[in-house]
Amino acid sequence: MGVALGLSFAAHAEMMIGFSQIGSESGWRTSETASIKAEAERRGIDLKFSDAQQKQENQIKAVRSFIAQGVDGILLAPVVETGWDQVLKEAKDAGIPVVLVDRGVDASEDLYLTKVASDFVVEGALAAAWLAAETNGVCDVVELQGTVGSSAANDRKEGFESVVSNFPAINIIRSQSGDFTRSGGKEVMESFLKAENGGANICAVYAHNDDMALGAVQAIKEAGLNPGEDMLIVSIDAVPDIFKAMADGDTNATIELNPHLGGPSFDAIKAAKAGEEVPKWIKANGPLYLPDTAAEEYKMRSK
Ligand code: AHR
Repeated sequence: MGVALGLSFAAHAEMMIGFSQIGSESGWRTSETASIKAEAERRGIDLKFSDAQQKQENQIKAVRSFIAQGVDGILLAPVVETGWDQVLKEAKDAGIPVVLVDRGVDASEDLYLTKVASDFVVEGALAAAWLAAETNGVCDVVELQGTVGSSAANDRKEGFESVVSNFPAINIIRSQSGDFTRSGGKEVMESFLKAENGGANICAVYAHNDDMALGAVQAIKEAGLNPGEDMLIVSIDAVPDIFKAMADGDTNATIELNPHLGGPSFDAIKAAKAGEEVPKWIKANGPLYLPDTAAEEYKMRSK
C-alpha cells in the first residue's frame, strides 16, 4: 500500500506546462529548447512541447491546444511581435498565465504574466559601441537582420542605429534579413559582396545572430577575402561555433544571449500560482566576448 502510494505521488507531475517554440533556425535556438526541456525534467514538470516551424499560425494553434488541455501555464517564444492579442486574451480568460520567453510582443502587458528575455536594444547598442571604438568611428557596415517582424531583429537594429547615429562616419550601407539562419546569412552576404563590387569597401558586418555571421564568413572566404581581417564581424548569441570562429581569427566579437530561460519562467508561473507578484520583465543580458578568451570559451562550451 505504502509503495503504491509512493509510486502514484512520484508519477504526479508538479505542473503541466505548454511550450510553443519558434523552431530550430539557429544553434542558439536548439540550445534554448534543450535547456528548457532539461529544466522541466529536472523539476518533474510535464512539458508539452510544440515546434511551430517558424509559423505564427502554428503557435496560435498550439496555445489554443494548451488551453484546451488545461495546462498550468504556457511558455511562448513569439516568432513575430504583432498579432497575439486575441490568443493571449483567450489564455487570460482561461486563467492560464503566459510567459514570453526570449522574444517580446506588441500587446498590452496585462495579457501576459511576464517576459523572460534579454534586452535586445542593449545588445545592438553594445555591438555598435564595440565597432565604433574598434574603427575610430569610421566604417561602412553591412547588416544581416534577423527574422522580419521579430522583436529580436527590430530591437537589435534599433539599438545599433541609436549608437551609430552619434558617429557621422559610420554608415550602414546595406541591410537585409537572413532570417537568423546560416544559409540565409551566407546568401545575403553573397548578394552584398556582389552589389558592393566584391566588397573591398565593406569595413564590417553586423549580424543579428552568430549563425548568420558564420554564413557570412563562408561567403567572404569564397569571395577571396579574409573575414575578421579585411572585414570586422560582430554578432550576437555566443554559441560554441562562434568561439571557434573567433579563435581562428574569422570573427571579432559576440554578445552572449543566455539560453537558460526555463528556470526563471517556471519560477514565475509557480510564483503567480502562489499569488505572488511577478515583475513584467525578467532580464537575462550577457556580456561581450572577444578573441582573447575564445579558445578557452570554445573548449568549455563545446564539451
Ligand atoms: O530571439 C533570439 C534570436 O533568435 C537568437 O539570437 C537567434 O539565434 C534566434 O534564432
